[in-house]
Amino acid sequence: MPAPVVIDTIPGIRGAVAAARAEGRRIALVPTMGALHPGHLRHVERVRELDPTAFVVVSIFVNPLQFGAGDDFERYPRTLDDDVARLEQADAVFAPSVAELYPDGGARVRVSAGEVGMTFEGAARPGHFDGALTVVAKLLHIVAPDLASFGQKDAQQLWLVERMVQDLDLDVRIVEIPTVREPDGLAMSSRNRYLSPTEREAALALSRALAAAESAAAAGADAAAVVAEADRVLAASSGVEVDYFALVDTMTFSPIADDHRGPVIAIVAARIGATRLIDNARFRLG
Ligand code: PAJ
Repeated sequence: MPAPVVIDTIPGIRGAVAAARAEGRRIALVPTMGALHPGHLRHVERVRELDPTAFVVVSIFVNPLQFGAGDDFERYPRTLDDDVARLEQADAVFAPSVAELYPDGGARVRVSAGEVGMTFEGAARPGHFDGALTVVAKLLHIVAPDLASFGQKDAQQLWLVERMVQDLDLDVRIVEIPTVREPDGLAMSSRNRYLSPTEREAALALSRALAAAESAAAAGADAAAVVAEADRVLAASSGVEVDYFALVDTMTFSPIADDHRGPVIAIVAARIGATRLIDNARFRLG
């Protein structure tokens, strides 16, 4: 079984990437925070499908910059050995320490996620998207990939990464990966391992609400009726403290107008016990 080389320094990964480039291979980057699940592994599989000879780098770094004071930075699962063992399809794992990426304690100059960075997940977690985009920009500069994959699971992050690439003229192709789910519909997430069996059951409310919204839309419901349908499912679920359910425009990631027709993303966030979960679905209205 081939195993990826594990590299923890910036010069180390730059050297490995340069050697692969010298062989004429393109470079693909899959940024993660580790605690890998099949959703993450799908990224590796997908970039391989797109470019079978690419040198595939998976980064594993729990980025302190994107965690707020009340967030789970300390408790976030760190399972590097298990992660590496699951990555036989990757060529390299870049797993730097915090000191390697932030030698003086934290980037002082940061990427600003702008207005969209302050809504929804950004409203719940101030500074989260500035921190996430800053580390993504660093990783894109360090690895200089031809393609980099991001999951639709984190719809707002994906929108912002695509926007950053466009606004800052970054020379990389962003590959979108559809959300990988458990058989019962729960979106895979590294945070699912925090859930007790009862919470795991309650967490199904998110995907059920999205499915109800999607069927209502398919049956011709307008925006208000679609939201009402999702709210009904969420309200009927115990142990679920909803933060938001909203329909946003795929182009602007802003709430849609009441008479909107065309593609939307339904986004939902809720707290199940101490665990905050997000999910989303893409469909059309009208
Ligand atoms: P993390 O939560 O580890 O996710 C890494 C990548 O996997 C992200 O692009 C995310 O959207 C994607 N992903 C997560 N769950 C998925 C699922 N069920 N199906 C498909 N893709 C999924 O997102 C981050 O890390 C960080 O913010 C990061 C981009 C690495 C910056 O620190």
